[in-house]
Amino acid sequence: MFVTTLVVGLLAVPCLGSVNPAKPQMGWNSWNTFKSNINETLIKSSAKSLVDTGLAQAGYKYVNLDDGWQAFTRDSSGRQQPNSTRFPSGMKALADFVHHMGLEIGIYSDSGIYDCAFYPGSYGYEERDAATYASWTIDYLKFDNCGSFQAGTLSPQERFLRMGDALNRSGRSIFYSLCQWGNQFPWHWASFSDSYRISGDIKSAFGEDSSGVCQSAYCLNTGYAGVSVLTMIRKMRELSRFQRPGSWGDMDMLEVGTGTMNLHQEQTHFSFWAALKSPLIIGADVNTISKVSLNILMNKEIIAISQDDAGVAVNYLPDLSTEHKVQVWGGPLASGKSRYVVLALNYGLDTTKITIPLIGLPGLNRSNLAKYTLREVWAGKVYHHGGDNLVLENVALNQTKVVVFSER
Ligand code: GAL
Repeated sequence: MFVTTLVVGLLAVPCLGSVNPAKPQMGWNSWNTFKSNINETLIKSSAKSLVDTGLAQAGYKYVNLDDGWQAFTRDSSGRQQPNSTRFPSGMKALADFVHHMGLEIGIYSDSGIYDCAFYPGSYGYEERDAATYASWTIDYLKFDNCGSFQAGTLSPQERFLRMGDALNRSGRSIFYSLCQWGNQFPWHWASFSDSYRISGDIKSAFGEDSSGVCQSAYCLNTGYAGVSVLTMIRKMRELSRFQRPGSWGDMDMLEVGTGTMNLHQEQTHFSFWAALKSPLIIGADVNTISKVSLNILMNKEIIAISQDDAGVAVNYLPDLSTEHKVQVWGGPLASGKSRYVVLALNYGLDTTKITIPLIGLPGLNRSNLAKYTLREVWAGKVYHHGGDNLVLENVALNQTKVVVFSER
């Protein structure tokens, strides 16, 4: 959230964070791997690992605490407080540590009376909690949807808007990441947040959903959690067109490095999150993550697609795709001399050849094709355009070839 009010006079204004919602946010979050078992030693070592591994340098700047940092009661002034056993130094000291490493810190709360683990939610305390986070110099808030049943009469839209307003008045620029699980189709109303979750929780699995998970973005609240990577991508067929700078649809934290996917599956996962302009928030343990997964997360060219100046997501191209076999997505790029990106995924065939007629790529300027260089990103292979088709040989099962068209 950008601070829109100029605060003057004798009020002490904490220094502002550096929200840049013009690009999908990048960072790390504790939930996927650690659930509520978090403490300040873990958060500090994760911040340090972000720096030591090069992830911070690659753009992953947010260190986000998810559920589990709080005490079960507010203090005598009604302020949220950290669990004193697990965070004995308090949140301001932790924020100072993270800032000192050149990173930014995120925290988690909930729009209901309770959060999902029955810690106090922010319902009715929005102003006080936003002021508390600002006083701790927090840079990012993930705001959840549990406990809303007890909150009863207020619509989710109003509950989430209240915190947005409170953050705006907090005197600090705090990134507002809304987590309403896609239940009430936030792509139609959540533009006051910087990003909004499009679904229930992701699962560390490439293609196997938990029971009851539905495939489209618009199905109502069945199968809340347990969405596989392929299903999350499927849901974006209806949502890619809603992506825009400052209001990013969030496909949930990355499962790259959590140990359930092979190389091609992790590359596919990361490619789609980047090209669909989802936030890139690592969910793996960055203290122990493998070199292979690190290399995927740090691929400069894929990150450049995510952080491209145009902020336009790729779209699903049904005419070039075959259900349960091959899917092709494409869209424009602005940065540098790049102009277009194509993703071709084999998700149902033995190793195959994928032929893409260039005429089928909407928005590609074909009059200039002779001037384009085509670069297959994961293979690092460059070729010049030679005909009416883009021909991709040997696409293995679950592999995505990412091809960037750049003007020479
Ligand atoms: C869920 C949310 C998860 C995680 C969890 C914490 O509602 O979707 O990402 O934050 O709550 O309890």
